[in-house]
Amino acid sequence: MIQPHGGVLINRIDYSQPVNRNNVRVELDNTALSDLELIAIGAYSPLTGFMGENDYRSVVKNMRLHDGTVWSIPITLPVSEATAKRIRCGDTVNLEKDGIVYGVMTVTDLFFPDKQEEAEKVYRTSELQHPGVKKLFERENVYLGGPIILVRRPARQFEGHTLDPLETRARFIELGWGTIVGFQTRNPVHRAHEYLQKCALEMVDGLFLNPLVGETKADDIPGDVRMKSYKVLLEKYYPSTRVLLSVFPAAMRYAGPREAIFHALVRKNYGCTHFIVGRDHAGVGNYYGTYDSQKIFSSFTKEDIGITTLFFENSFYCTKCENMASYKTCPHEEKDHVSLSGTKVRAMLQKGEAPPKEFSRPEVAQVLIEGLQQQILIQTGTVASDG
Ligand code: ADX
Repeated sequence: MIQPHGGVLINRIDYSQPVNRNNVRVELDNTALSDLELIAIGAYSPLTGFMGENDYRSVVKNMRLHDGTVWSIPITLPVSEATAKRIRCGDTVNLEKDGIVYGVMTVTDLFFPDKQEEAEKVYRTSELQHPGVKKLFERENVYLGGPIILVRRPARQFEGHTLDPLETRARFIELGWGTIVGFQTRNPVHRAHEYLQKCALEMVDGLFLNPLVGETKADDIPGDVRMKSYKVLLEKYYPSTRVLLSVFPAAMRYAGPREAIFHALVRKNYGCTHFIVGRDHAGVGNYYGTYDSQKIFSSFTKEDIGITTLFFENSFYCTKCENMASYKTCPHEEKDHVSLSGTKVRAMLQKGEAPPKEFSRPEVAQVLIEGLQQQILIQTGTVASDG
């Protein structure tokens, strides 16, 4: 079994830990709550808490923790200045959301970040139109760092498909898989994604389909609708013995190349030996070059990363080849290729139109159309949210 990042799978869960109600309360946003859980279950190994100043600055500047271990995305706990004034280093604080205590943290660091620098280094832009940068600046201005303990598990949205790294590692052994390819997505699985996954499945023992279901931008397709579509797709088009579907509850950062590194390291912690990086991985708009998320891996040695990346070119259905392909395998012109933008596809689905079957499996399109229409009815108040 592959070693976790940094060598040890972190476990910071202790449901029996007593919580002192007199501790200062720190209100978590959705991103911080999901980060708390992911640190505790070891998905972010070797992190044992929210980053202190040394790790934070080193990650922003050099993509490494202070001790030299590769880490590309700051994992931070922003609090307001008013809250920060009530906290001293050495204090234990309660990490809460909506009145429920999910964790405790021993504060080792309390500092003002340079958000401008964080934006420019991590996101390669400080434009507020970038959803990750927007979020960065919307969050509070003081960062708290220190080791955490998870005292209560946030509610599981996808029962049976929310496995911790310890559990996925055990499942991979049970399944007899020696090599496992991880697949990150914040989208429904379309034919191009399926092509990448199946090319990889020709080479490795199993596919770990690990969709990100934490906070995404408003126009991404919601996690619950996507989960239905993944299940239908797997049932109809994949051998059941070769795929494990389980969610990645993290927030999407849209940090392109930096996030591709982060996504790969986390999948190593889940027990994957391989990780797929296609075109514009974790990108948004035109902020990153098509293959920047692949190129960034060349800044590190294989040992630094420790999981094998599988890079794929932009893939599409070619009407002349009558097959999925990329420019590596198809000699035909662009006009022969079926490629649709995410925006176009969403507009079609919202109108109840299925994209061509060369782009998306009809069963998947059907689930997405129904899911999005239900969402529109909920938004307009026509049906109750559980209806
Ligand atoms: S994201 O989570 O990386 O933002 P997305 O769902 O768009 O999500 O992509 C999932 C993975 O498939 C990424 O590695 C991405 O690079 C790759 N990918 C998506 N579409 C294509 C395509 N048409 N050709 C090649 N790779 C693709």
